Amino acid sequence: MTAEIIGTGSALPMLAVNNRELEGIVDTTDEWIKSRTGIENRHIAVEETTTSLAVKAAEAAIRNAGVSAQELDLIIVGTVSGDLCFPSTACQIQKALSAPNAVAFDMNAACAGFLFGLAVAEAYFKASMAKTALIVGAEVLSKMMDWKDRSTCVLFGDGAGAAVVRASDAGVLSMVQGSDGERGGALTCGNRPVNNPFVSNPFRLEYAKMEGQAVYRFAVRTVPEAVRQAIRQAGIEMSEIKYFLLHQANIRIIEAVAKKLEQPMEKFPTNLQKYGNISAASVPILLDDINQSGRLQKGDKILLAGFGAGFTWGAAVLEWQR
Ligand code: UT7
Repeated sequence: MTAEIIGTGSALPMLAVNNRELEGIVDTTDEWIKSRTGIENRHIAVEETTTSLAVKAAEAAIRNAGVSAQELDLIIVGTVSGDLCFPSTACQIQKALSAPNAVAFDMNAACAGFLFGLAVAEAYFKASMAKTALIVGAEVLSKMMDWKDRSTCVLFGDGAGAAVVRASDAGVLSMVQGSDGERGGALTCGNRPVNNPFVSNPFRLEYAKMEGQAVYRFAVRTVPEAVRQAIRQAGIEMSEIKYFLLHQANIRIIEAVAKKLEQPMEKFPTNLQKYGNISAASVPILLDDINQSGRLQKGDKILLAGFGAGFTWGAAVLEWQR
């Protein structure tokens, strides 16, 4: 028993903001952002919320899969930027979709959120606890940014990606996950501070902070190892992979991974130029781009990999069944 992706969807906020527009907000340049990251544009939520984007992506994935919301018995949302502390984004999606038969919960595995969601769904399938799952990565990271901090605010964007996944005999061939909490201090965002009658703690909102180079080194070292391990576990050759769909943090990271794996860049589709880094939404949006553009055929082998805050990372090899 494994998991098969049977439909994908995505949603982006209306407002697109290019690098030049950011030049008027922080001390940065289009040239710096493009040359250091590859990012040219990102979408920023104005009217949209994490939940509204997640629902839109989920509806598209359900349509693409040709299933009804009633068939869903599991909804998992990877997010670090839910609109509410509770109820979860997943429970809000359940309500919006009218999916009463689903167990719904959020997971925080940052940019590996979609990969962790896929692993949990597969485990539910193996335990006969579910048959049809909706996995969503949804973020409004613009609200987590300090818009005076040029080292972070230019990198991230907002959006959501989703996949409907079904218990099947074919689909996911292997899955690798890892976490390293020891080094987690390199990428953090504070939550609400303790504030009660017994503690005097002036409320101060905290924003995302990143030691960019430490995260960069982690990614370039860990991702190729995880990819190799996933391919080994799948029992296939690296050359059999048609596309490597990596978390869209930085084109230089993707190029470094491609070089380490001795694979051509053409096998590494990217959309970070248009969307920036959307954490948990990055991988499912890229998968949806590839799927909707008709670039996947039955029998194609693809690799998905996410990595980020925690640190967390995950990789999966899939054989496309549609
Ligand atoms: O999604 C989670 C995973 N996240 C990642 O994978 C991100 C990993 N890290 C990176 O992608 C890169 O480290 C960054 C893109 C974040 C930064 O690139 P870098 O080449 O490591 O630059 P840096 O942090 O070493 O900064 C170089 C210079 C600094 O100036 P000085 O000290 O050399 O004078 C920064 O202050 O660039 C400066 N700088 C900027 N300049 C213009 C930092 N941000 C900006 C900016 N515009 N937006």
